[in-house]
Amino acid sequence: MKRYEDLSPSLRCIMTPGPVEVDPRVLRAMSYPVLGQFDPEFTEIMNETMEMLRELFATKNQWAYPVDGTSRSGIEAVMVSLIVPGDRVLVPVFGRFGHLLYEIAERCGAEVLTIEQTWGRVFPPEEVIEAIRRFKPDVVAMVHGETSTGRVQPLDGIGQACREQDALLIVDAVATIGGVPVETDAWMLDAVVGGTQKCLSIPSGMAPVTYNDRAEAKLLRRKQVERGLRTDTAAVSELPVVRSNYLDLSMLQDYWSPRRLNHHTEMTSMLYALREGLRLVLEEGLEARHARHRFNEQALTAGLSAMGLELYGEAESKLTVVTCVLIPAGIDGEAVRSMLLQRFGIEIASSFGPLQGQIWRIGTMGFSCRENNVLRLLGALEAVLIRHGYAVPAGQGVQAALDVYDSKVR
Ligand SMILES: Cc1ncc(COP(=O)(O)O)c(C=O)c1O
Repeated sequence: MKRYEDLSPSLRCIMTPGPVEVDPRVLRAMSYPVLGQFDPEFTEIMNETMEMLRELFATKNQWAYPVDGTSRSGIEAVMVSLIVPGDRVLVPVFGRFGHLLYEIAERCGAEVLTIEQTWGRVFPPEEVIEAIRRFKPDVVAMVHGETSTGRVQPLDGIGQACREQDALLIVDAVATIGGVPVETDAWMLDAVVGGTQKCLSIPSGMAPVTYNDRAEAKLLRRKQVERGLRTDTAAVSELPVVRSNYLDLSMLQDYWSPRRLNHHTEMTSMLYALREGLRLVLEEGLEARHARHRFNEQALTAGLSAMGLELYGEAESKLTVVTCVLIPAGIDGEAVRSMLLQRFGIEIASSFGPLQGQIWRIGTMGFSCRENNVLRLLGALEAVLIRHGYAVPAGQGVQAALDVYDSKVR
């Protein structure tokens, strides 16, 4: 009989745009005993998690809870619940994850309208606002932090333009939440989806979402109570019911409301992880956390430039938490990544679609975003590049990053 060894994953330094390293406090929380899903101790954990999510999303929305599944499940839940087949949906695309929103909208039966921006850039908000006025969509879906290109889309004025056209604005803040400001109420975002495995530094497996009364009003027009849970004749919904049962937010919100109307069986250990991860974020403070991400980015980019490496994309829209580096001519990007991982235990990411083989993507997110990780990566990258025949000015990368760190009054 085959014998399976004890699991013993390597301790990695993970500098990718997710998943990233997880704080030991979160890992410890995941090992706590399982509670029943209607145990008052557990429902209190659900309530506290909702309270902390409201702070994270900077919102007074009643609804802020996790969808069980990876971030994509949160995106699908929001889109399948808020897009009625036949709706006109505008998706501004400036990278891979904009294409994902397009594809999901299409699968929801929407008439999808799009504007596209060259990868490595974002839209001036006026261009999106002009498209909203021209297309008059029912829904606008867009990415805030595009990890495929390392860009952040300014959202100013877009929420207001959606209100003027009575459109709902859905935002993928999977990569930004917990690392970069996301102002749900101030920016008038109707529904926002976050991710756990990036700046929140929790394992992948839950997608925190929030949505406001405007979004809820549409949901309630599609609401249907599950057949086996009905206590009276179910009201006929005014709009077509949501095509997914698992991802139907009108049912999920009943489960997260004081009614606790049963839906799925909540992911106990993941919820412990989310609660602990949120506690860590709020203990650090959102502003301090955003500043930490900016500071480590500054050290990393100073180090990379001192090594003679060039950053990809327009500078003004660079996403703090993802740094894209052009792979120097003649260097095999995958061989470099592999040596970093195998010999130094450090992981950086490759890239997708048109950027494949062109750039490396370095994440500075959450628990991974710290001085010793940045210095370790710069030192190791120098050694690996020299090994691959690329002339790096010796020691300059780490020294430039140290200069940034030492400039801070501690
Ligand atoms: C911006 C963005 N949106 C959505 C996703 C999808 O998330 P998941 O892989 O957790 O489903 C990712 C994942 O990398 C992402 O970076």
